[in-house]
Amino acid sequence: MNSDNAILSVSNLSVNYSAADGAVKAVENVSFKIKPGSTFALVGRSGCGKTTIALAILRLLNGQGKITGGNIIFDGVDLLSLAEKEMRKIRGAQISMIFQQPAASFNPVFTVGSQIAETIMLHQGKNKKDALADSVDLLKKVDIDQPEKIIRRYPHQLSGGMLQRVMIAIALCCRPKLLIADEPTSSLDVATEAGILDLLFRLQKDENISVLLITHNPGIVADRADYVAVMNKGSIVEQGETESILKNPSNSYTQSLINNVAGKINL
Ligand SMILES: Nc1ncnc2c1ncn2[C@@H]1O[C@H](COP(=O)(O)OP(=O)(O)OP(=O)(O)O)[C@@H](O)[C@H]1O
Ligand SMILES: [Mg+2]
Repeated sequence: MNSDNAILSVSNLSVNYSAADGAVKAVENVSFKIKPGSTFALVGRSGCGKTTIALAILRLLNGQGKITGGNIIFDGVDLLSLAEKEMRKIRGAQISMIFQQPAASFNPVFTVGSQIAETIMLHQGKNKKDALADSVDLLKKVDIDQPEKIIRRYPHQLSGGMLQRVMIAIALCCRPKLLIADEPTSSLDVATEAGILDLLFRLQKDENISVLLITHNPGIVADRADYVAVMNKGSIVEQGETESILKNPSNSYTQSLINNVAGKINL
């Protein structure tokens, strides 16, 4: 694939975190490309650098984290050279993100509806009344019953699965080209997880969104991803089409990841 038809192209990305006793190399020389409309999974054990890559793409690394090398091209735009003001227009609109802990992503003192409406007002310039009406439509789209009632609730009044549906609604409200889903279901029980993943990938197909799916679970990769990159200690150890990587891993680390969930993967 050449870079022209990739929606996201990450080349030689390296990220360090500064620590009292020196720098931690969290991501080293990572390169991958995501084709439009496809699902690309980053898989690897805890601490291997998955979230760091997501935060680097969105330029949301905090003060301690620094991109020390590489390029990130999104839809032909060099994200690392953009002014923060330009980046803000892309974040939450053209690239959106779903996080692992839905509860932590909401502000407890505002209703769910006002938090969806806020994103719509920010990126689409609508007034509050229209944005709230759109919020009801969005909640219908993510299969929430009685959305008129739900928009008046506070985050703690909803279950984890419901909140994750609301977060998907917010992530998709501006029709992003790229959705980054960082362990979107790891805080949910297995039955709820399957429902949320079904919803996410149905909406992806409907709207032709590209997805960067971050997970530690090779079973989810097997079921949902077109392409996969396997990470270990900050580096990608192998990548390619999901089926060929999971069926014939050339790397012993990939083999050990798969063995951990043996019997749970359908290939
Ligand atoms: N703010 C930070 N300051 C210092 N080091 C950090 C910071 N955030 C992450 N790290 C370190 O960077 C490395 C990569 O962390 P990262 O959170 O990207 O991993 P991950 O693959 O997302 O893990 P998990 O599966 O547990 O979410 C780890 O060694 C981690 O300890
Ligand atoms: Mg993480």
